[in-house]
Amino acid sequence: MRFGAAPPTAAAHRRQAGRFKCEDEADARRRGDKAMRSDHDNVSGFLPEETTGAPPRHAGRTDRLWLLAFANDSRSDQILREVLLAAGPDRAEVRRGDVAAATRLLAHAPTPSILIVDIAGVEAPLVALDDLARVCEPDVKVLVIGDRDEVDFYRDLTRTLGVTEYLAKPLTRELVASYFLPHVTEERRAAPAQRGGRLVMVTGARGGVGASTIAANLAVHLASEGRRHVALLDLDLHRGSIALLLGSQPSAGLRLALETPEVIDHLFLDRISAPVGDRLRIFASKEPIDSPLAPRPAAVGKLLELLRERFNHVVVDVPAACTPMLQAVLGQTHQRVFVTAPDLPNVRDLLRLHAVAPAPVQTGRPLVVVNQCGRPGALSAEALKRALGFAPDIAVPHLPRQVTAAATLGVPVLSRSRPFREAIRALAEEIVPGRPAPPARGLIARLLRR
Ligand SMILES: Nc1ncnc2c1ncn2[C@@H]1O[C@H](COP(=O)(O)OP(=O)(O)OP(=O)(O)O)[C@@H](O)[C@H]1O
Ligand SMILES: [Mg+2]
Repeated sequence: MRFGAAPPTAAAHRRQAGRFKCEDEADARRRGDKAMRSDHDNVSGFLPEETTGAPPRHAGRTDRLWLLAFANDSRSDQILREVLLAAGPDRAEVRRGDVAAATRLLAHAPTPSILIVDIAGVEAPLVALDDLARVCEPDVKVLVIGDRDEVDFYRDLTRTLGVTEYLAKPLTRELVASYFLPHVTEERRAAPAQRGGRLVMVTGARGGVGASTIAANLAVHLASEGRRHVALLDLDLHRGSIALLLGSQPSAGLRLALETPEVIDHLFLDRISAPVGDRLRIFASKEPIDSPLAPRPAAVGKLLELLRERFNHVVVDVPAACTPMLQAVLGQTHQRVFVTAPDLPNVRDLLRLHAVAPAPVQTGRPLVVVNQCGRPGALSAEALKRALGFAPDIAVPHLPRQVTAAATLGVPVLSRSRPFREAIRALAEEIVPGRPAPPARGLIARLLRR
């Protein structure tokens, strides 16, 4: 994993892992770098927690420092203090020590959001950074200072190890202000969107493609197999089907939350949501068709922020028709999931959706789910790939009997169809890379018993 990126999709991680190893070996051979281990399989780089065994990142954390910097000499120490601490971040510290001191400390202490380490004078700096990577949580942003000033070395650190920036000593105030400070302040600006749970926006290229079906089942999977606390928010307040798909009832109050930011707090959110099992809560409403909504962007933003404080994942079903809420949702969305049907009108609209510029928190590309593959008259997989210009991420089969039966009973489709369950599992793995926790049968069992 590269620093500063949102946790990668499983596929991106696989690609990254492969690329990482190749470059490492080739570059090490070219350089004849004695510092590199001969067994490069042991060089993890800053990989996700699944690989490093580092502790998981917790939502809304208060236990981590914002910035922790290590400098090996008094001059660097002083300049880092003067430039970075003067910028005023809360919970920031500068300490004396080299990269090994950082590794020793972080083996037992929470990883800061931004870490600066000093590799000057260290005999095998790449190995030392690799050791550091093994004790760090994957979302850390690492800036490095050292005494080598070679382009190859810089490239190794930034490209191969995922270091964000490198400065060769002697440090000056100007250098630190130009190259390190922006990372510190940029992180602080991005903070509200990065704190808390991950927001997954699910939307259809057009209406009726199955976006709500996918969103509801994804949320159930994340809560049951992923064992995470999940909020499922249906932003189609007039015709939304999310609650009924999971055998729940829309509740009054969501409209008020979207139109009146002053009323929203955690207590209010408890009152307007319905539990499904012990880890999933549904936020849905059924407003009269002739009563148009007047959602306020500030209210949408506040609602999402509060949900992300409470839940590990917030899955938002956004109606295909562009609503005034879309921009507010996009601003906090970490992962966009676009659902399309396998036909040309849908593909055209999907490509338009795909072209919408990502918000700063969306560091990954959108995931494309093709639903109802194989239905009569559908484009073949090959024709679909040609029309899209890329292969979709997930293909969900056309399962009219099972999907209709599940909707009638108000149970998730994944409880009734193995191919559907596998497709949702593959989608969840793209969204939440890493080994899932052992499945908790409670929620699914309860839903099945209905
Ligand atoms: N994989 C599938 N196989 C067969 N039918 C499906 C599948 N997925 C969804 N459907 C059916 O497609 C219809 C639309 O599904 P859904 O309501 O989830 O779509 P949507 O994109 O949310 O629609 P809307 O734009 O109205 O919100 C439903 O009748 C549903 O049963
Ligand atoms: Mg829908």
